[in-house]
Amino acid sequence: MSIDRKLFFFLLILHLLIVLILLNKEKILFGSNLAESGLSYLPSKDKHHIFLIWKGSSFPDIYLKALTTVIKFHPKSEILLFSNDLNESFFEDLNLIYKNLFIVRYNLTQMVKNKPGYNFVEKANRILNGEKSNLTLTKVHLSDFLRLFLVYNYGGLYLDTDMFPLRNMQSFKNTIGVDDQYKYVCGKNIYSYKNVSNFGCVCNCLFSFEKGHEFLKSALDNFGKWWEEKQGYGPGGAIMLTELLANHLDKVNVIPNEYWICLKYGARLLKLANEGDPDIEYTLKKCYVVHLFGAGAASFSLNNFDQLFIGKIYKKLI
Ligand SMILES: *[C@@H]1O[C@H](CO)[C@@H](O)[C@H](O)[C@H]1NC(C)=O
Ligand SMILES: *[C@@H]1O[C@H](CO)[C@@H](O)[C@H](O)[C@H]1NC(C)=O
Ligand SMILES: *[C@@H]1O[C@H](CO)[C@@H](O)[C@H](O)[C@H]1NC(C)=O
Ligand SMILES: *[C@@H]1O[C@H](CO)[C@@H](O)[C@H](O)[C@H]1NC(C)=O
Repeated sequence: MSIDRKLFFFLLILHLLIVLILLNKEKILFGSNLAESGLSYLPSKDKHHIFLIWKGSSFPDIYLKALTTVIKFHPKSEILLFSNDLNESFFEDLNLIYKNLFIVRYNLTQMVKNKPGYNFVEKANRILNGEKSNLTLTKVHLSDFLRLFLVYNYGGLYLDTDMFPLRNMQSFKNTIGVDDQYKYVCGKNIYSYKNVSNFGCVCNCLFSFEKGHEFLKSALDNFGKWWEEKQGYGPGGAIMLTELLANHLDKVNVIPNEYWICLKYGARLLKLANEGDPDIEYTLKKCYVVHLFGAGAASFSLNNFDQLFIGKIYKKLI
């Protein structure tokens, strides 16, 4: 072998070694990233993520309609429905086959290892395992935590399962909806920021953040403490977020819930409406989603869907 050939093989082997080390560091080769993540499916690095959370082994028809609109307006996004109960072939069985829709199983204990929020899950687990405690842990607490955790760790859009998107929302970054003009007051603070005035509450029902955002980190770091101290319905949700927002306003875009979740017509959605109702046109033009506030009830159903405000909107979307 000539010196040149030896050098060539030496460099080739060196090159292969470096590639191997890099791949291993990224944990591409041995799949340990997936095992460590605590998820049955790892959100793709190169796709926009939409996170949905579902508890229960059945999925009402009305939410299937909502999911259909999520898919319709986000053909390029990866839609990840986090559920440990729903049959993994549920959507195939319904022939709702869409290549970017996944039912993802998760193990919260594994997910939070060495990550913000660990303290909450550790205590929650002790209660779930039957340890006596004066603290209450509900599925709302867990769902409030999970959505913050997912968007913080993977980046993307979280939306409640009872929301019908009216347009694509991929371009919204670091955005959360707020109730302007004191619609609701969640805590002691009233803010005005940029062009949104006098808001007293954020909604943790629809938000979009880049991976690793400091506002969500602060929410995860504080979740356990708020849950312990406040208990009740959703302490780590709207109330906590509204207070923490004070320290992160310059990094967050706020948008009035009047449009963001169509609060203006929220109360009309399940009421009868006429075809030519001008409020339907307004909703389609101005709002980002409509929110049924069904709160994830597995038994939620509507018989006269087509006659309702929401039914008329749905007909125009699909
Ligand atoms: C899930 O659905 C499939 C297909 O309908 C069925 O064969 C399977 O038994 C179901 N799994 C469970 C755990 O119910
Ligand atoms: C979840 O993860 C924890 C920590 O890795 C593990 O001890 C536990 O067995 C897992 N639970 C299930 C149901 O797989
Ligand atoms: C629960 O008990 C601890 C002491 O074990 C006490 O400090 C705490 O205030 C109690 N919390 C509630 C919500 O009652
Ligand atoms: C607030 O400002 C943004 C950007 O300047 C604009 O897109 C949005 O429509 C404004 N919102 C309101 C409620 O005026």
